This record gives sequence, C-alpha cells and structure tokens, in this order.
Amino acid sequence: MTDKNKTATLHMDGKTVELPILSPTVGPDVLDVRKLYAEGGVFTYDPGYTSTASCDSTITFIDGDKGELLHRGYPIDQLAEKSHYLEVCYLLLYGELPTAVELEDFETRIIRHTMLHEQMQYFFRGFRRDAHPMAIMVGVVGAMSAFYHDSTDIQDPWQREVASIRLIAKMPTIAAWAFKYHTGQPFVYPRNDLDYASNFLRMCFAVPAEEYEVNPILSRAMDRIFTLHADHEQNASTSTVRLASSSGANPFACIAAGIACLWGPAHGGANQACLEMLKEIGTPDRIPEFIARAKDKNDPFRLMGFGHRVYKNFDPRATVMKQSADEVLDLLGIEDNPVLQVAKELEKQALEDPYFADKKLFPNVDFYSGIILEAMGFPTSMFTPIFALSRTVGWVSQWKEQLADPQHKIGRPRQLYLGSARRDYMDIENR
Ligand code: CMC
Repeated sequence: MTDKNKTATLHMDGKTVELPILSPTVGPDVLDVRKLYAEGGVFTYDPGYTSTASCDSTITFIDGDKGELLHRGYPIDQLAEKSHYLEVCYLLLYGELPTAVELEDFETRIIRHTMLHEQMQYFFRGFRRDAHPMAIMVGVVGAMSAFYHDSTDIQDPWQREVASIRLIAKMPTIAAWAFKYHTGQPFVYPRNDLDYASNFLRMCFAVPAEEYEVNPILSRAMDRIFTLHADHEQNASTSTVRLASSSGANPFACIAAGIACLWGPAHGGANQACLEMLKEIGTPDRIPEFIARAKDKNDPFRLMGFGHRVYKNFDPRATVMKQSADEVLDLLGIEDNPVLQVAKELEKQALEDPYFADKKLFPNVDFYSGIILEAMGFPTSMFTPIFALSRTVGWVSQWKEQLADPQHKIGRPRQLYLGSARRDYMDIENR
C-alpha cells in the first residue's frame, strides 16, 4: 500500500518528520500520520474528519467529483438495475458476487433467522404507542445482545458470522414491528416463502383479518431502495459502528449505536425532514421564499435532501431514486402528485441558482426516497427506520472487516484543548 518513492517531509521547530504517502487502488493518496505525534510531538486537527481517513477498507469507494459509488468495484447503478438486495448483501459481506449455489445458500441462511425471540415482543410493548419507530429500533436492537448470547463473542469468527446473519435477517421484522406497534395493529410474523422486500412489505401492511397480496412492482421498488442505501463507506453512522466496536463491544450494541447516529437530520433523518419540508412548501409559488431562506446566513434553515460531504457533482443514488419515484407513482396512478411537483420544481430552481452551483449542492438520495415511500403507504416516521434496515448490511460488513484486521485498535481521537490551564481550587467563600 505504501509507495516507497512517495513521502512528505514536515519541518517544524527545528524537527524534520518524514511521512509516508499511501496509495489506494483508486482515489487520492493518503498521508500516513500515525508516527507524527511520536516523532514530531504534534497532533493533526480535523474536526468533522474532512481530510482524515479513519481506516483502510476494501468494501465501498466513492468518487465525489465524478458522482460514482462502487461496491467491491461494481457501480451502484448497475447493481440497482441488474442485481437485488440480498445479492448485494452477499457482495458487501464476502467481497465477490455469489454463484447461484452460494446465493441460494445465503438466502436460506437469512430466511431461517427472520423470526424474533418471542419474548422480544414485550420490549416493543413496553414503549409508548406514540414512540418514534427509530427510538424503538435503537432499544430493540441493543436488547438483542440480551437475547442472542451465542453470537456476542467477537473473538469467535463463527459467532461473528451468526450475528451478521441475524442482524440482516431480523432487521425487517424489527422495523415492521416498530411500525405495527406505532399504528396499534397486531404484529405480523415473517413468511419465509417471500423474498426479502415482499416479506417486509407484508409484515408492514398485512392484517390478520384478510389476505395481503404483495405487488411485485412495489416489492421491486422497495428492494431497490434497500440496495441504494446498503453501504456508503465511512459515513457518520458507519464510523460510529466502527468506533463502538473498537472497544470490543458486542455486535448488537454497535449496530444500535449506528442506528442512533443515523437518526439525525443531517444523516438518515434527512428523508423524513425532506418530505416534511416539501409539504411545508406546499405549492411551487412558495419555492423562491424557501430558497432565499436556505441562502440566508442568519437563518439555520437548509434545503433538506440537498448537499453531501463527498458528492460534489451528483449523487448517483438520487438519479436511480428519481426514476423509481416516477415508476412507482405511475404504477399507483398518482398523477400530478403535489409533493412531486414541488420536488421537481425545487430541484430545477435550486440547480439554476448560483448559490447551489457554486457550493456544489445537488439533490442527494433522500430527496426522492420519501416521495416513493409515502406513495407506498409509509408515514414519514418510517423513512429513517427503512434507511436503518437497508444500511445494516453496510454496518455489519464494515464491522466484520474491522475485526478481521489484526492491526485494529481502540479508536481514541485527541483534541485541541482551549480551556483553562492548571489552576488551584478556590474555597466557595472566596469565589
Ligand atoms: N442548503 C443550503 N445550504 C447548504 C446546504 C443545504 N442543504 N448544505 C450545505 N450548505 C452550505 C453551507 O451553509 C455551507 O455554506 P458556507 O460555506 O457559506 O458556510 C456550505 O454549503 C458547505 O456546507 P457544510 O455544512 O460545511 O458541508 P458538510 O459537508 O459539512 O455537510 C451535509 C454535508 C449533507 C450535512 C449538508 O449538505 C446538509 O446539511 N444537507 C441537508 C441535510 C441532508 O440532506 N442530509 C442527507 C445527506 S445524504 C444521506 C446521508 O448521508 O444520510
């Protein structure tokens, strides 16, 4: 990985430190500062990690300028069109596309783990009915470590594998049950003769009183949403999972930490925030007012579903999502959907505005996903749980990769301390 001919030399306070430069398969070179403190006595300062690689990885690559997202080298648009979610899960977890036999075996392993321990129902029932499904998911996924003791030993590769399969298999059941509990309907058990996406739709929308037919086009759209969210390199929630795991925490606790991080509106919570924003705008004539607010430095408002830390050209997931939104609304006979009208007009006006062009702000994956999910019948509170469900495989793959790396150590950033220097305690009567 190190290019022997490439180093950077740092001169400071009479000291010279030679820093190796690491060359990735693709993407910009990486300056290796691991010895910097030991040899130079200084730390690097990079809040928000805008210039910092926190690990090495072979799973996902993003070229933000080109608008390219590769999983194990395969472009996301090809995977979204030709593959399906469980095949992409296999690819992310094991590094290669499966053969037909490998895929069948993997799908069987997932299917055999979709049920939850029956006792876990009481966890759901302990929440208030108006609890946000993300709050339920953080709690229930964390609680899995109290139910599946035989897959919490991270030193045992077999237990790691079982935990991975359990998390991917049970997450749709957990998300669907959080939804059912929230709406006051009975829990629907998984059915193993259905594919992953159809099973999830059925657990969300079926009721015991009547048969439920899964529409194959909606199931395909659901599967595509899962695929588009499956992994995204070292984003905030994935880095949270890696940091939690670096202390040796069990897999269920680590994934619960990832779900908690994903919930924020700057990350996975943006899909809910975006649809709420589009509804608040309401009609295309109000768009200029919201664009003006987004540009106003004194107003904290931002256009939700716009901008990305890494993509500075376009988000390739948003392109596929936009096509899917058109297909789903067409299928459901929802013509002239007012939210979609506002979304399309907002996208057009923002892209023509120099503020957004200069700052390289484009619609991201969350801009169109909410429109599809709402058309399918999901309330906005389910958007982020569906993102969490989809991203579980990414978190699990990155967690496994980290644990398999013999060099991994606890994550422990340093700081630029700006508080008081040492001072003596003063008795209260003298303050
Ligand atoms: N609307 C208006 N201005 C924006 C926006 C926006 N959505 N996003 C960034 N800016 C401006 C920001 O004010 C700043 O301006 P200036 O340089 O004048 O101070 C500049 O663009 C750079 O913004 P930043 O906050 O330094 O960029 P970042 O890389 O730290 O943030 C982001 C990336 C995604 C958090 C941000 O673009 C944002 O808040 N977007 C809205 C929330 C959103 O849609 N999040 C979903 C991200 S994709 C899915 C996921 O990862 O979960």
